[in-house]
Amino acid sequence: MISAPDRHPHDVLVIGAGGAGLRAAIEVAALGASVGLVCKSLLGKAHTVMAEGGVAAALGHVDDRDSWQTHFRDTMVGGKMLNNVRMAQLHALEAPARVRELEGWGAVFDRTRDGRILQRPFGGHTHPRLAHVGDRTGLEMIRTLQDRAVAMGIAVYMEHTITHLTTNPSGVTGAFGYRRLDGDAVVFPAKAILLATGGIGKAYEVTSNSWEYSGDGQALALRAGAELIDMEFVQFHPTGMVWPPGVRGLLVTEAVRGEGGILRNSDGERFMWQYLPEDRRHEYAATDEEARTWVEASSASRQTDARRPPELSTRDNVSRAIYTEVREGRGSPHGGVFLDISYLPADHVRRKLPSMYEQFKELAGVDITAGPMEVGPTTHYVMGGIRVDAETGATTVPGLFAAGEVAGGMHGANRLGGNSLSDLLVFGQRAGAGAAARAASIADDPYMNPVQIRAAEEELEAPLSRTGGTDPYRLREQLQATMQSLVGIYRTASDLKDAIARIGDIRHLADDLCVPGGRAFNPGWNLVFELRNLIDISDAIARSALVREESRGAHSRLDFPATEKAWVDRNVVVCRDGETLVVGTSPIPPMPKDVRALAEAGGGA
Ligand code: FUM
Repeated sequence: MISAPDRHPHDVLVIGAGGAGLRAAIEVAALGASVGLVCKSLLGKAHTVMAEGGVAAALGHVDDRDSWQTHFRDTMVGGKMLNNVRMAQLHALEAPARVRELEGWGAVFDRTRDGRILQRPFGGHTHPRLAHVGDRTGLEMIRTLQDRAVAMGIAVYMEHTITHLTTNPSGVTGAFGYRRLDGDAVVFPAKAILLATGGIGKAYEVTSNSWEYSGDGQALALRAGAELIDMEFVQFHPTGMVWPPGVRGLLVTEAVRGEGGILRNSDGERFMWQYLPEDRRHEYAATDEEARTWVEASSASRQTDARRPPELSTRDNVSRAIYTEVREGRGSPHGGVFLDISYLPADHVRRKLPSMYEQFKELAGVDITAGPMEVGPTTHYVMGGIRVDAETGATTVPGLFAAGEVAGGMHGANRLGGNSLSDLLVFGQRAGAGAAARAASIADDPYMNPVQIRAAEEELEAPLSRTGGTDPYRLREQLQATMQSLVGIYRTASDLKDAIARIGDIRHLADDLCVPGGRAFNPGWNLVFELRNLIDISDAIARSALVREESRGAHSRLDFPATEKAWVDRNVVVCRDGETLVVGTSPIPPMPKDVRALAEAGGGA
């Protein structure tokens, strides 16, 4: 006989304990509501740590010409004007306060000579803007947020996998899942639920994401009736490791280029000069000499009028450039290109990039102070996500909130490096406040319908009780190979249609997943539920990519190479109708004139 699941009621349940989830939970607790924080891995093991190079905030410590308005404009230009304008405004306005708050909570940032938070340059940012801790910024942020959450006594449920959200006609009522330690079912009745589960990187073969990033929050939200927007925009970070095979995709921080790293092909050419977008070429150094002047000023944290090197173009552009160089036969021996910072003094490189120095030495046997690294694009982030209200993080389902990478809109068609860390601080705080306010407005304790719980329990048990069926590991490999080869950096209608058909077959096979063993710490069993999410999300990405018949930011269609005016004011929207995904478009309201002027200052996109 199956015993009743353990119950952990809270006013607000936060699912996902990376930066956004932690910041949200801190806000909920600070507002006096009871909060539970669930993560399927160990606390602190989050993709936030893979934002290594810094958190973007217009503090103006290295260049006092910086301002929230410039940060807003850079974000909009980088996002190809598809960003949720209000989110981009709030983000630029509030990021400095959130970074200072973090410093007040104990984050130890690198310093300027006069003792202020040091900032470094990154792609697409007009001024040095990234507050950082060497190349371990995300790690320091997680450490600080985690310490604070623990000190506040927030209830943390580690190694719990959520498989279902329960709802009634008034909105969400709770979450159902299981404890990985013993596989027992657990329910979390809650007045509000906040999703902060991060991204979808495990849909691809080559990714900077670790095993946890399987689109769980996006898929749970879809099933609960929420909408996803702009899922076609997947960020391929230009620089992941390409060799040895076991670490392919591991992030090589953009800070390497921020500190002066130069990209070269096998002919020794600094190829990024050839790939700068015509309408923004004026922002980049015109010669090697100007780029070198910029690096010298930057190394000394000095304000300069020299323009930034071509390697600091936006990520979408650099990834396409590297991909093209490799495809046209000018790649490095292991299918990447060369990234070289060894021309700078070795002690400077080791001080600025300690993790990269160790990473290459330990994993590839390469001394980055003595020679170049080999790098290539890696799936890093998804710009699309759950549709949310900018002010509160509310989704279209009452009581369901979302923050961080799982939410869509903030970054438009392409995210600038460093903007994810500031995003998760700004919108983690806002969504936490939104969820706490929703919980305070509900008098009755949430009631989770036992019929929904029973159905969720049956789904949990099914793959263990089947004899013979599909192996989830094999099926995930098929899905990843499909996404990597057909829904990658460059797309065409025929590839996307092929991908959608293959994902349909994979979905069909997934009805019959079967895993050996019992419930306690069974990774194959856990994969069954991740795979279900990955299938939904991969389908949403491929279908959205087919609908957007233009190229914009990270979405490059070989059959529709132009960026079309007709598409700048449309989100691609995915929702669920029973077992079917429905994809359409919805109009974006016109930008107020003054905001448009600000966003387009220095040239529109
Ligand atoms: O390259 C990096 O350090 C990553 C930063 C980010 O994704 O924001």
